[in-house]
Amino acid sequence: MQAEARKYEQLALTLQGMIEKGQFLAGHKLPSIRKLSEQWGFSIDTVQKALHLLEDRGYVQPVAKSGNFVQLPAGQQANACSQAPNSLALDPPISPDMSDHISLLLNSCMRGDVAPFGVAFPAPALLPIASLRRSFSTVNRKQPNLLAQDSHVQPNQAALVLQLQRRFETMGMRLRKDELLVTDGCTEALSLALHALTKRNHVVAVESPGYYLLLQLIEAMGLRALEIPSSPETGMSLEALEIAVKKTKIAACIVCPTASNPTGSVMPDANRKRLLELAEKYDFPIVEDNVYADLYFERFRPKPLKSFRQSDRVIMCGSFSKSLSPALRLGYVAGGRYAPALLAHKRILSGSTNPLTQMAVAHYLDKGSFERHLCTLRQHFETQVMAMSALVLKHFPEGTRVSQPKGGFVLWVELPAHNDTAHVFQKAILKKTAFMPGHVFSASGLYKNCLRINCGHPVNEDTAVAVARLGGLFVA
Ligand SMILES: Cc1ncc(COP(=O)(O)O)c(C=O)c1O
Repeated sequence: MQAEARKYEQLALTLQGMIEKGQFLAGHKLPSIRKLSEQWGFSIDTVQKALHLLEDRGYVQPVAKSGNFVQLPAGQQANACSQAPNSLALDPPISPDMSDHISLLLNSCMRGDVAPFGVAFPAPALLPIASLRRSFSTVNRKQPNLLAQDSHVQPNQAALVLQLQRRFETMGMRLRKDELLVTDGCTEALSLALHALTKRNHVVAVESPGYYLLLQLIEAMGLRALEIPSSPETGMSLEALEIAVKKTKIAACIVCPTASNPTGSVMPDANRKRLLELAEKYDFPIVEDNVYADLYFERFRPKPLKSFRQSDRVIMCGSFSKSLSPALRLGYVAGGRYAPALLAHKRILSGSTNPLTQMAVAHYLDKGSFERHLCTLRQHFETQVMAMSALVLKHFPEGTRVSQPKGGFVLWVELPAHNDTAHVFQKAILKKTAFMPGHVFSASGLYKNCLRINCGHPVNEDTAVAVARLGGLFVA
C-alpha cells in the first residue's frame, strides 16, 4: 500500500516537474491514461491516482469525454516559449514521403526571391569568404599535387588534424590524432556515429523538438527514434530520458547540448554530468552534436560533454558549416573508444574528405583569426536573434511565444494552438517569405502550431516588412 502511494506520488511529482518546466504545455491535452501507463510503465490505477493528485494541486483539469488538460496553477504562468512534446513515445518511423516533403520545403525556402527565414544558413556577408578564398589559392599554389592525390588512402590531412587538436585542447580536450576523423560536414559525422553504434531496428534517443535531417537519417537507416521531451532552456529532459532507458534499451542518445536546433537551448553543466552518469549507469553511448557549439551567447563556452572525465563513451561531432561556410562541407568526429569503427565506416561510405578543402581550412585556422571572427559572429547572431524575436512578438498574433536562444541563430516560435504551420507554408512562399514548419522537428508530427525562423541574416527594414507579412498569415 505504501509502495503504491510512493509510486503515484512519484509519478505525479515527475509530471508536475515537466509541466513546470514547460515540457507539457498549458492548454494541451495530456496523453491518455492508457498511453501514460504504457509509456511510463505504471498501472492504470497508479496513473489515475497521480492525475487526481495533479488535479488537486491545480496542474490538471479533467474535461468530460475529452481527457486531461494541462494548466499552470495561478502565479506560475510562463511567458517564454516552452513548447515540448506531450508524449514520450517510441515513434513510428517517419515515412519516405516525409523526406520528399522536407526536400520540397527546403527547395522552396532557398528560392532567391523568398525572405531567408527557412534554412538555417548564415548570411555570406558575415562569413570570412574572402579570407577563405585566399587560403584556397595559397594552398592550391603551394601544393599543386593535392588534387592529384589518391585521397582514399588517407582520410585525414595532418595539418587540419593538428589545428583541430589545438582548438580542442583550449576547450579542455586532449584528443589523440587517431581519435579524430575529418568528415564531409557534421551530417557525415552523425551518419558515421550511427553506423558505428547501431543495427537495423535499434532505438535511438533524440531531443524533441530536434533536427529534422537527423530524424530522416534515423529513418533511412531503419532505426527508431525515441523522442525525449526537451526544454527550450535546458535541453533534453534527463528525468524523461531515465524513465525511457529503464524501459527501453537504446543504442545511442544524440544530443545537441550547446545551442540546440531548433530551440537554442543550452544544457547546464550539472545536467551534462548527470547525462554522462546515466550513460554509465544504463550503458549507452552519447553522440554530442556540437555543430552550433562555437556560437554560444554567454561569456564563457559551455563545457563540451567530451571534455568531462567519463567521456570515452561520447562521440563528438561538429563542423565549420555554421561558422565559416556551409558550402565547405567540412566537419569532424572525435570518436573515443568508437574511433576504429568510425574510421572503418568512413572508408566504406566516403573514403575521405576533399584534401584541398581540408588544407585550405587548416591554412585559414593557422592564420589565427578564427577566434576573433567567432567573437564578432556571436555578437551579430545574438543581436539578430533578439531583433527577430521582437519583430515576431510585434507582428504575430496575440498568444505567440518565442524561445530565448542561448546560442546559434534560429528562433523557435509557438503560435496559438489552432494554427497549422505546415498548412500556411505554401501561402508564405507565395508571399515571398519562408520558415520551417514545426512538424518536421518531430518524428511523430508534434509541433504543428510551431515554426522555426532562421536569424542568420542582419535584420533590416525588409526583414520587418517580411515578418509583418508572415505574421498576417496566422490567427490569434
Ligand atoms: C543540429 C544540426 N546538426 C547537424 C547539422 C548538419 O551540419 P552540416 O551542414 O555541417 O552537415 C545541422 C545543420 O543544420 C544541424 O542543425
